[in-house]
Amino acid sequence: RLRPVDPAAAPGGGQPLDLATRLRRNRKSDWSRRLVRENTLTVDDLIWPIFVMEGEKTREAVPSMPGVERLTVDEAVRAAEQAAKLRIPALALFPYTQPGLRDETGSEALNENNLVCRALRAIKARVPEVGLITDVALDPYTSHGHDGVMDGERILNDETVNLLVHQSVVQAQCGADVIAPSDMMDGRIGAIRIGLDAAGLTDVQIMSYAAKYASAFYGPFRDAIGTSKTLIGDKRTYQMDPANGAEAIREAALDVEEGADMLMVKPGLPYLDVVYRLKEAFGLPTYAYQVSGEYAMIEGAIRNGWLDGSRVVEEGLMAFKRAGADGILTYFAPRVAERLSAGA
Ligand code: PBG
Repeated sequence: RLRPVDPAAAPGGGQPLDLATRLRRNRKSDWSRRLVRENTLTVDDLIWPIFVMEGEKTREAVPSMPGVERLTVDEAVRAAEQAAKLRIPALALFPYTQPGLRDETGSEALNENNLVCRALRAIKARVPEVGLITDVALDPYTSHGHDGVMDGERILNDETVNLLVHQSVVQAQCGADVIAPSDMMDGRIGAIRIGLDAAGLTDVQIMSYAAKYASAFYGPFRDAIGTSKTLIGDKRTYQMDPANGAEAIREAALDVEEGADMLMVKPGLPYLDVVYRLKEAFGLPTYAYQVSGEYAMIEGAIRNGWLDGSRVVEEGLMAFKRAGADGILTYFAPRVAERLSAGA
């Protein structure tokens, strides 16, 4: 239907192109753009990951994550109060375990008075309306920084799963609403479901880190929980190869079969194709984790004045929604919630 433009027509005048469809028509004004918008970002989409440490009434900067701090348990309660005020649905808790409490098998993970458990109880007592998600994996507790127990160089699968079941039950008994296994051992979702149910914890949800990649984007997180210096080798024998997409479907299919209530993809922005695939394939509530390295990249550029802060953060989060995510774990959560509730 394209008719050649009249060569005699002067720029700005003359014949209009004969176009049946002009996509710019719907973009002509703010009201129209709002009317045709396909996705929205609201505070209901946000999960706020926080780092917890020993001590009282202090916060400690994480240098590779400017703007993010480790919080003592009482400060974590304050963060939960802030989340409740902003209507952020849930927090995800990650501990910085004292080096002296780390050992070969991560035994502190099973201690019902460990940092995460104390934070769970304190927050539940004061701010019961905020959902609490806990990470299940041994890495904050092992002297070698791996998510499982080791035999020489090997990470043992089934032995690790046994411990993870125990860790999950302890966390749930201390108040975790959602158990989020991030360890990538085979068979852990099914085993954890059975363990929770046997302990009478049938209402506790499981958010599976279904597709978790062996990523270099976790660097700043490992600084935050104190494993960057201690980690021996890498996590490639259990976390997924960044080159693989179809394998993510197999990982997620097993987790769905084993009883996962929600799926997660991690990292986030570099893996939007995986978010899209999992949402299409299973239709489960699906989340993306915008991880520490993504945060550091974006926040670093913002602080250097290279990127426009609020716009770039919200564009990135909207991209997750467009890809099909039902929510995003993001260190930007309080900042974005603040802006959204101000109607900005
Ligand atoms: C631990 C865990 C990691 C993250 C969440 N849970 C790091 C890792 O697997 O080494 C990373 C989160 C982030 O980078 O923000 N199992």
